[in-house]
Amino acid sequence: MKKELASIVYQIWPRSFKDSNGDGIGDLGGIIEKLDYLQTLNVDYIWLSPVYVSGNVDYGYDIDDYYNIQPEYGTLEQFDNLLSEAKKRGIGIIMDMVANHTSSSHEWFKQALESPDSPYRDYYFFRKGKNGKEPNNWISLFGGSGWTKVSENEYVLTMFAPQQVDLNWENPNVRDGIADIMKFWLRRGVAGFRYDVINIISKKAGLPDKNPHKKGYQFADDYINSLPRAFDFMEEVMGKVREEFELFTVGEGMLLTQEAAMRYSRCDDPLFDMMFQFDLALIDCGPLGKYDFRKFYHWTIKEFKTIVRKWQMDMQNRNYWMANYLSNHDQPRHISHYGNDKKYRVESAKAWAMFNFTLRGTPFLYQGEEIGMTDCKLEMDEWKDIEAITDYKVLQTMMKLPAFIARKVIQKKTRDNARTPVQWSDAAFAGFSTVKPWIKLNPNYLDINVENQENDSQSVLNFYRNLTGFYKAHPVLTFGRWTEILSDHPQIIAYVREDDSEKLQIIINLSSKPVTFSLDEIEGKDVLTTHTDGAPWNHKMVFAPYEGRIRELSKH
Ligand code: GLC
Ligand code: CA
Repeated sequence: MKKELASIVYQIWPRSFKDSNGDGIGDLGGIIEKLDYLQTLNVDYIWLSPVYVSGNVDYGYDIDDYYNIQPEYGTLEQFDNLLSEAKKRGIGIIMDMVANHTSSSHEWFKQALESPDSPYRDYYFFRKGKNGKEPNNWISLFGGSGWTKVSENEYVLTMFAPQQVDLNWENPNVRDGIADIMKFWLRRGVAGFRYDVINIISKKAGLPDKNPHKKGYQFADDYINSLPRAFDFMEEVMGKVREEFELFTVGEGMLLTQEAAMRYSRCDDPLFDMMFQFDLALIDCGPLGKYDFRKFYHWTIKEFKTIVRKWQMDMQNRNYWMANYLSNHDQPRHISHYGNDKKYRVESAKAWAMFNFTLRGTPFLYQGEEIGMTDCKLEMDEWKDIEAITDYKVLQTMMKLPAFIARKVIQKKTRDNARTPVQWSDAAFAGFSTVKPWIKLNPNYLDINVENQENDSQSVLNFYRNLTGFYKAHPVLTFGRWTEILSDHPQIIAYVREDDSEKLQIIINLSSKPVTFSLDEIEGKDVLTTHTDGAPWNHKMVFAPYEGRIRELSKH
């Protein structure tokens, strides 16, 4: 298997990483300043959320110009500098390839709007309205209609914000256009791409109504998700790119099924090296997704383990490959979501990290998780996230929630939780900037920050350093067989990772209560632990809240 699979990828959401020029907005200069820091986390690749020219409706995921850098973030020269500085430290840069849609200010779309005869019209889905309504009943993934009106009786398909216009991949010029963009950045020296919502680039032919007999907008689901042509289109494009370049590739699979994952990232002939899936992120959500509040306050470790088992076993048995993550720019902070962001913040941060770095697959981490950053309560006038702002209305109109509950749901789930500035120190503005940042700073920066944790050997940060170092030194954690143990235990997740030369056992208490469990095998030695004062191994064991251990077992 490709050795790059045994990598560590650190995701940067540039706007909130580090500001280098005192305008309150993170930038490329800030990333360059922190490369040494990233090296101490044993990072192989940085995945940069979009840094192209953007109107910031969806902060970079609405791209006006794929061939240039957003002026707020820097220049192409600075980008080249970032590439070479990163390379000196053995770090590759992965760009975000947003290929499902361009922004409505992109040159292609402007041309398309200008004249009905423009060849660019067919780059998008322009359609006439039906009986004074939208051309079909698909719901946008950000809520509301999936269509945006462009003239009297004409609409264009916009599956996210109205300013993000879906590309028509049936058109070969679109496919060539996307291949050209990739080649441009690969020529400059980027290591690869993360492909944004790449499994929804093909839409069901004819764009028919979904559930035509139902009232209201309908989730288009199997009319947009992982259609065969989505795969074929990308195969063609990647074929062209791979004629000239070798690259690292990870696809975002929106609501990805195992069947689809199997197609996208099979190890013997991968279209992408690995895929992201959403099952853990959506563990406490109803069928309508992230803001579906029905199961909001309940999820169990048993359910969590079922999801983990399902993916670990399937990718192992059917030989495909996945990217593992707990946090990213689209989800609340995982300490707040799955762990305990109060009494056991430090312990739970370590436990979840240990979990993520010991699974089969390639581990990703997201800026700030290495210091145990938590969600930040934002008041309504502080919200920046378009998804949250739109869904706040949708929850009230479509789901008939009272405003104060809708507000609570949004506060809990908004992406802004993950987008507050990285907390570098307890200095003014958390050392992120010299002025007030563009988005609210989490007031807990006085306590939770990088500087504080640098010299504390027991800090979350130093735990991540040990853990990532350990991960790099033990390929068994990447490629070894995954076998679950204690599978019925309601609080503990545990498994063995084994290859020809090594056997590691991982046991983690994912709960905020002490737990008891029984073990047959007690020989072996701890090689990495979350706690320094754990009890010696015995047939009957007690683990403290969020205690986790990696133990080396002898091979017989
Ligand atoms: C992906 C991105 C998300 C963005 C959406 C539309 O899910 O991760 O941030 O809003 O695609 O581009
Ligand atoms: Ca700046």
